[in-house]
Amino acid sequence: MLLITNGRVLNPATRLEADANVLIVGNRIEKIGSPASVGARALELQRVTGEDIEELSARGLVVAPGFVDVHVHFRDPGLTYKEDIHTGSAAAAAGGYTTVVCMANTKPPVDNEAVLTDLRKRAKDLPIHVLNAANVTTSMSGQKLTDMEKLHAAGACGFTDDGVPIRDEKLMLQALQMAKKLDVPISVHEEDPELLLSQGVNQGAVSEKLGLGGAPAVSEAVLVARDCLLNQSVGAKLDIQHISAKMTVDILRFMKAEGVEVYGEVTPQHLYATEELVLQKGSLARVNPPLRTEEDRQALISGLCDGTIDMIATDHAPHAKEEKAKPIADAPSGMIGLETAFALCYTVLVKSGRMTLLELCEKMSYNPARLYGLDAGELREGGPADLVLLDPKEEWTITEDCFRSKSKNSPFVGERVTGRVKCTICDGKIVGLDN
Ligand code: DOR
Ligand code: ZN
Repeated sequence: MLLITNGRVLNPATRLEADANVLIVGNRIEKIGSPASVGARALELQRVTGEDIEELSARGLVVAPGFVDVHVHFRDPGLTYKEDIHTGSAAAAAGGYTTVVCMANTKPPVDNEAVLTDLRKRAKDLPIHVLNAANVTTSMSGQKLTDMEKLHAAGACGFTDDGVPIRDEKLMLQALQMAKKLDVPISVHEEDPELLLSQGVNQGAVSEKLGLGGAPAVSEAVLVARDCLLNQSVGAKLDIQHISAKMTVDILRFMKAEGVEVYGEVTPQHLYATEELVLQKGSLARVNPPLRTEEDRQALISGLCDGTIDMIATDHAPHAKEEKAKPIADAPSGMIGLETAFALCYTVLVKSGRMTLLELCEKMSYNPARLYGLDAGELREGGPADLVLLDPKEEWTITEDCFRSKSKNSPFVGERVTGRVKCTICDGKIVGLDN
């Protein structure tokens, strides 16, 4: 048994915020309550089972549901020099995550049952819950739908061609219809290729300075509008990935008011930084869709605060040192994010007074878990013992040492942040410990 004492318990599902102890037996939460009532239950169980009571002090810490990240790239199979499911899981556990959804742009991609079945098998031995989305189209070519029914039956929790947008409206409509039938999210990367002069840097002052064509905000907004309109009559769980532009937030707000079934993700990097970071960090700040302007960033924060954007997802995208060392026009897009997500979000959202820690936890655990219908993202007696212990006061500087990922491609090394993940518990076991 694990007895977590003297913590401040936050549970977004019930809006509970209380000083309480938490007793974990096996992989379940046995009891949450006053020290006396939880202690009595622990002793009673000990008398019956003879099991030891291991105490974990959470004095000065917040105890919250383990984070849920619906957007990670673990590069397995085929690109495991960047990351594999083991290093990816370790990075997730270090960042307070107990459940992640892996994107399907691997090599080969997850467009067939054999690749998916192998991943599902290997996920069983990992310290956290690792789920897999499968592709919408074969070879991510945007030409032909995968056998979504078969992939769903083989364990796909959702569908995505993340990394590449789906250009064909008719195919997109069919994909939405199938996702609706299967009742799973379909997650889309929205950047209209016709409108991109180059990817990874916002089209504007910075792209001009660097002599790059740039990716305009409208390339995102047009596809978001299109897919919301297509979904209006379908009602699938349409998930707009890594929203980066004010225009998109405005469209999403309108579409939600119209009753369209649509959800939004935002990354810590788009909440925290702007295109200016590209001038300081070069290729490390190259990401699709790109970091945009301060006006965009403020709109993302407002959209997250008012519920237009539902959740924070990292888009953890590891790349090797040599790849990111290339000139910006040739380096791959993407940045790692699991280990730094909480601190960046706490600093920019909670410390700044834009939202409470309870609200942040809702966007990092409860809301993403609800979209995928997971038994996760809340603290409930009888529920899974997936928790995170957080120190909201600790100030620290991000260094490469904090990464468990195989890659180190973060533009936030050197950044002074507030809020630290102290301990991650998954299935009742400590899987990440800051010491
Ligand atoms: O910058 C990105 N990198 N955006 C994506 O959507 C994909 C990701 C990757 O796989 O590297
Ligand atoms: Zn993407």
